[in-house]
Amino acid sequence: MSETGALDSLLHEDRRFPPPEPFRRDALISDPAIYDEAAADPEAWWARWAAELDWYEPWHTVLEWTPPHAKWFVGGKLNVCHNCIDRHLEGPRRNKAALIWEGEPGDTRVMTYYGLHRRVAKFAHVLRNLGVEKGDRVAIYLPMVPEAAIAMLACARIGAVHSVVFGGFSPDSLADRIVDAGAKVLITADGGYRRGTLIPLKNNADRAMEHTPSIEHCIVVARTPSTARELDVRMSAGRDLWYHDLMRDIEGGVPCEPMDSEDNLFILYTSGTTGRPKGVVHTTGGYLTQCQATTRWVFDLKEDDRYWCTADVGWITGHSYIVYGPLANGATVFMYEGAPDWPNRGRFWHLCEKYGITVFYTAPTAIRAFMRWGEEWPAKYDLSQLRLLGTVGEPINPEAWMWYHEVIGEKRCPIVDTWWQTETGAIMITPLPGVTETKPGTATRPFPGIEAQIRSEAGEEVKAGYLAVTKPWPSMLRTIWGDDERFRETYWSKWPDTYFPGDGARTDDDGYFWILGRVDDVLNVAGHRIGTMEVESALVDDHRVAEAAVVGKKHDVKGQSIAAFVTLKEGHEPSTDTADELKQHVVEKIGAIARPELILFTVDLPKTRSGKIMRRLLQDIAEGRAVGDTTTLADPEVVRRLQQRYEEG
Ligand code: WT7
Repeated sequence: MSETGALDSLLHEDRRFPPPEPFRRDALISDPAIYDEAAADPEAWWARWAAELDWYEPWHTVLEWTPPHAKWFVGGKLNVCHNCIDRHLEGPRRNKAALIWEGEPGDTRVMTYYGLHRRVAKFAHVLRNLGVEKGDRVAIYLPMVPEAAIAMLACARIGAVHSVVFGGFSPDSLADRIVDAGAKVLITADGGYRRGTLIPLKNNADRAMEHTPSIEHCIVVARTPSTARELDVRMSAGRDLWYHDLMRDIEGGVPCEPMDSEDNLFILYTSGTTGRPKGVVHTTGGYLTQCQATTRWVFDLKEDDRYWCTADVGWITGHSYIVYGPLANGATVFMYEGAPDWPNRGRFWHLCEKYGITVFYTAPTAIRAFMRWGEEWPAKYDLSQLRLLGTVGEPINPEAWMWYHEVIGEKRCPIVDTWWQTETGAIMITPLPGVTETKPGTATRPFPGIEAQIRSEAGEEVKAGYLAVTKPWPSMLRTIWGDDERFRETYWSKWPDTYFPGDGARTDDDGYFWILGRVDDVLNVAGHRIGTMEVESALVDDHRVAEAAVVGKKHDVKGQSIAAFVTLKEGHEPSTDTADELKQHVVEKIGAIARPELILFTVDLPKTRSGKIMRRLLQDIAEGRAVGDTTTLADPEVVRRLQQRYEEG
């Protein structure tokens, strides 16, 4: 089906799901008047949320907006770690489980708020002893173990800026991010488990550190048993230190550093339209305010919930909805290290039963995989504790939504489809589960206090066009690390003083937002954001490749997969081996998430007369559609030959 065809059927979606009555009755928010209340004075509204945090010094101005730069809660001082941990120690949460963790092999750990506090305060002391000061950058390259959260919170405690790098990224990708941020310390592990095998993180880190002169120390968490010597971990004397040695030898913790509301909290790299990932900068007061607000209301979070967000802490979802949002609310967070299909396809549902998960937040790509694996897996387990389900990362197709609703939610649980981005820091468009009537496939309405529109290129409000955020919001990115020009250019140059997220969207008769996906050269593969240029750079990095063009190809489970059109230099012949080697080369340069599924060799690429590669056209070919308009093409013959090749297989 063509894109517009699929869209039309989406917009004719007439199944409606009001909040189930028992849910609505107990929900934190069930009165729609909240939207008008927030819209009447968004600044006052956010200030009320900010006041729910502990501040050392109050702010004097809620918002200073000199587009495109916003400052929230100006003059206020607070500490994120204090708000996520220390302040909960006073009352009954002291002995409440903050983190419940299960490793892929089945090992488990539980940390109370007291226990988490002790570890974080000690580790903050360790970092400080190693010379990490307020404002210094610390890179974190860890598997999904509690130490990932501990390291992030320890940085926040002393005012160091963390830069978490997803453990699936290659040594090159890690090195690029460390160099760009100028990180002083790298925190990693010997390895991590994924589908029964060990990912050699320290070995990767060693390869990265060959190119990172800023790194003074590398702290290594011993995740794997000492018998796992196949990893062959080497410790470089003076530079590399074991986490457990440092923690054993340190005496006591350090207090929280009072931070300015606008001090940097973290940098997180994400893909854009150029070959180089950009370091999205988030700050302290506004970020935590919106994380706390959205976690509480979108997930209807109550004191006795068992909350599980299946993301990795290496992505923004893990930052905002595993660590900062839930802990700021004093919640019990469940964290799992491994794959959903290990040792079998029932692992997630087994975990839901075993830990009595009540709120579950995952990605549409995972839901589509579960659908494919069959209802028999969830049917084996007791999912009756679940009361609310969420999704994030890409548009959810109505079939997947319905399956989630019926099979996992047993028709009892509202679904919150949450739209947001690394750059927005926290949820922006979402149902409120006790208020909003949902429809499969739409993220519905902006969260109270957020203002969004659908606009044309010219900036008029339209029914179908580009998504736009028309007012600054507390958890917005403040800049791109080291490149404010790129920040202005990427997000603020389309319309005056308005944020452009890079997504297309439509609205329906209820005024709901239907997010249609990226309108730039950014792919969404299994919920992971990948820039076409990044993959192209990795391909042309191979000595045989003359030119490469990468497009997204529709994929039943992943949403999109990567298709690459490659021209080889003279003297090199296309072959299956070459294709496999090129795929492997991309994995080594970027990481397994960027592996092209299809490589198509071609003698030429379709270009406009001005020399721009026509990606749309290539996408048409990759997805087997009739080729669209080629009138601006320099050599229409190129397309015909390409298409023929593709059809030949
Ligand atoms: C892009 C942001 C935010 C955490 C995960 C991804 C797409 C995200 C939805 C949704 C439709 C969505 C957008 C967005 N996206 N959530 N509920 N419906 N699309 O963060 O890597 O920064 O990617 O993911 O295209 O721009 P990210």
